[in-house]
This record gives sequence, C-alpha cells and structure tokens, in this order.
Amino acid sequence: MHTPITDLRPSGVSTAALHALLARERTLYIQRNPTSQAQAAHAAEHLLFGVPLHWMNDWGTPFALQVASAQGAQLLDADGHRLADFCLGDTGAMFGHAPPAVTAALRRQAALGLTTMLPNEDGAVVAELLAQRFGLPLWQFAMTATDANRFVLRWMRAATGRPVLLVFNGCYHGTVDDVFVDLVDGVAVQRNSLLGQVHDLTETTRVVEFNDLAALEAALAPGDVACVLAEPVMTNIGMVLPQDGFWSQAQALIKKSGAMLVLDETHTISSGPGGYAQAHGLQADAVVLGKPLGGGMPCAAYGFSAELAERVVAAKRSAPPGHSGIGTTLTANLLAMAAMRATLSELVTPATFAPMHALAAQLSNGLRAVLLRHTMPWCVTQVGARVEFQFCAVPPVNGTQAGQAMDAELEHALHLYLLNREVLITPFHNMMLICPDTTANDVARLVAAIDGFLTDCV
Ligand SMILES: Cc1ncc(COP(=O)(O)O)c(C=O)c1O
Repeated sequence: MHTPITDLRPSGVSTAALHALLARERTLYIQRNPTSQAQAAHAAEHLLFGVPLHWMNDWGTPFALQVASAQGAQLLDADGHRLADFCLGDTGAMFGHAPPAVTAALRRQAALGLTTMLPNEDGAVVAELLAQRFGLPLWQFAMTATDANRFVLRWMRAATGRPVLLVFNGCYHGTVDDVFVDLVDGVAVQRNSLLGQVHDLTETTRVVEFNDLAALEAALAPGDVACVLAEPVMTNIGMVLPQDGFWSQAQALIKKSGAMLVLDETHTISSGPGGYAQAHGLQADAVVLGKPLGGGMPCAAYGFSAELAERVVAAKRSAPPGHSGIGTTLTANLLAMAAMRATLSELVTPATFAPMHALAAQLSNGLRAVLLRHTMPWCVTQVGARVEFQFCAVPPVNGTQAGQAMDAELEHALHLYLLNREVLITPFHNMMLICPDTTANDVARLVAAIDGFLTDCV
C-alpha cells in the first residue's frame, strides 16, 4: 500500500499503519488472554483503578495482564503464556526473578523473625559489602529508592545548611516531590501532572539541562545549592549519556561551589558491581541504590563519604531531640537485611555482570542491524546490562531532546505487539534489561519481534 508522505511521523512510522496495527493487536490481546480478563474484572470490584497500584495500567493493555509466576528471565501469565521478560520489574528483578540465593536467605530468615526495630549481624556485613563495592564508607537504609532519595535530600540540606536542590531536566528519582520541576523554554516549571502538591517547588529546586556545563555553573553560582541529585546517565526519559569530559568538569564545578554530588545509581547499577561511578571513575559525596538491591525485595541504601558523614552526624547531634523526618518503621527489617546480604554477596559480582553485559551488547547489535535493514531513524544506547532504543537518529544529549524523540502512541503499539509475541519490555519508553538468566534465544526472540513490528508497521 502506498503511504502518503504526510502520514509519516518523525519516528519514520506511518500513522495509518500504526492505528491499524494497534486495533489488530488489541483484538489479539483480548482473544489470547481470557483468564487475565476474568481476573481483571474481579479485581475491578474492589481495587481502585482495577489494579493494586494505578501505574499498572500504564501498560496500556485493554486490561492488566495477570501474573501466575515469575522465575529467572521468564514470566508465566494467567493464560499460560511464557514471556521472555526484559522489563524485569523495571529493574527490581535485574538479577532474575526470585534468585535462588535470595529466596533461600529469605526462607532462613523468615524462620528467625521478620522485623524487630533492632539490628542483627547482617547490618555490619551488608554495609561492609556496600563500602567495598561502591567505594563509600558509611551507609544507611530505606525500603525504596524514592525514600532513600528523600532521606538523602534531607540530610544534605541539614548538613550544608543550604536550601536548594539542583537536578537535570527530564530526571526521575522516584516520587520525591522536589524533583518534579521541568525546564520549559528555559524556565523552571512545576510538573503539571503532579497531584496534590500545594508548595511551589521552583522556590527550592533548580533545573538545568544535562551536559550543559555553563548552565550548571550558573545555577551553582549563588552558593545556595545543597546538592546536585543526578543519575550518572539519564535513564528515565529514554537514555542520555554524559558527553566526554562532562562528569569530570561537573564534579569540579560542584565541589568548588561547596555543594554535594549525590549519584542515584538505582538504574545505572546495570554498569557493574560498583555501579556507573566505579566503572567510570566518578567520585560522588553520596550514592543511592534501590530496586534490585534486595533481589526483588523492597530494599534501598545510601552511602556517604567520610567527610560528608561527619557533617551529617554533626547536624543530627546539634538538632533538638525528636523526629528527624528520616526513616520508616520497617526500614532495615531483618528480612530486608537478609535479602541484601544474599544479593550483595552472591549476585553483585563481576562474574554475574560479565555475561549480562555480553548479551546486552548482542541485543544492541541485533537491534542496530534490524533498524538499518528497515532504514529506521532510531538509535540504540547500552549502559551495561541496560539497553534502550529511541525514536531519533542521533542519541539525545539532554532531556529536552530525549523528550522530543518520544512517541507515546508508537511506544504503546510496539509494546503491545511484543507482548502478544510473548516478549515483555518496560511500559515506559523502550528499556530492555538483561538478567543472569536471559538467554541468547530470548534476545533473538526480542530482535525478531521488533523486526516483525517494523515489517508490519512501516
Ligand atoms: C533513578 C531512579 N531513582 C529512584 C527511583 C525510585 O525507585 P522506587 O520506585 O523503587 O522508589 C527510580 C524509579 O524508577 C529511578 O529510576
């Protein structure tokens, strides 16, 4: 069929073909998943939005796919389909679903108690492993990366006596209110999708483009920035790599201004057992970890340099007794500590990461070959075990460019097409993660399915 030239989107896909494909794939999804449909109907009776967390509707499927089990790199759905899982709980299962080392540790600990608000010997061991892996000496815990970021931000403001948080445009660090400030035509604007926020976040959050050293220097100049909170590679607006020399110069500017650098390695831990910072020689004052740290159990941690830790302790000691605003009752519970001990000692190792990185390279190369064959103006970026493709020919250098390359309808159609071919990638942008159990066959299935989509849609 001849495609009129005006029908082509910037992503190189025809709108008419995309809409036709989407309609077909919705019908196919409904036909293939009768048990999920029945379970979703039952769930809608008492679950607000029909799912336990409203984000679960962001897959955009006619109804939520219901899970029967998840093991290794595979997810079994309620209708018996075995999906090759490249979403991996959006990184929570980066070491595979239910890794045996972790489930064994959980079984052992469950017989000995779940939560006590007192430590056991795991605390010292986990902190020592974190110090060895991530190069920072002193650690505290949280249940989620969101909480870890929230707590770190509070520590940073308390330790420096400065009010301002500096972030990069298009960042995501969990549901920490302070980070939801975007740069729109050069002006900082509170994100309008944020619900129930009554404070003007732009008063205490400054935002600049990633890879823009001049803007960073200007934003630091007033001397009121407590910390720069950043992913070493932006991973939540598609992927944005740091340009050569960006981090070495950014670190120098941050240090000179007296602000702290907090690196959120929640996703970039895909780079290796010490995260992106250790793999690329970055020196942060604080590091935040979450998601896969407990092998899929809710666990997070943050570490401080010795100098920063001293200032943090001084801030706590000089405050009156009472609520610090940092911590939650179940933080560092016995089960979480056991999960982190098992994950760090048995999975966060070079031996685990090496084959994951090799397979991610295979996936990147396979995708590039398919895109070339279809002459698609898309790019592929790899950060360790993490691979992303974006609907632009040249990799973006900042959040604005990355945002402009997004095409929600195309993403949605593609994800649904893949799901119907028993391959799962994240519902948000186009992230694919390799876990230790992912096979070359899984990678080949994913590449073939994307090939099929492009054949059907372009
Ligand atoms: C970089 C980064 N930090 C923090 C978080 C928050 O993690 P959680 O939702 O587990 O709190 C996310 C979630 O996607 C993230 O991508």
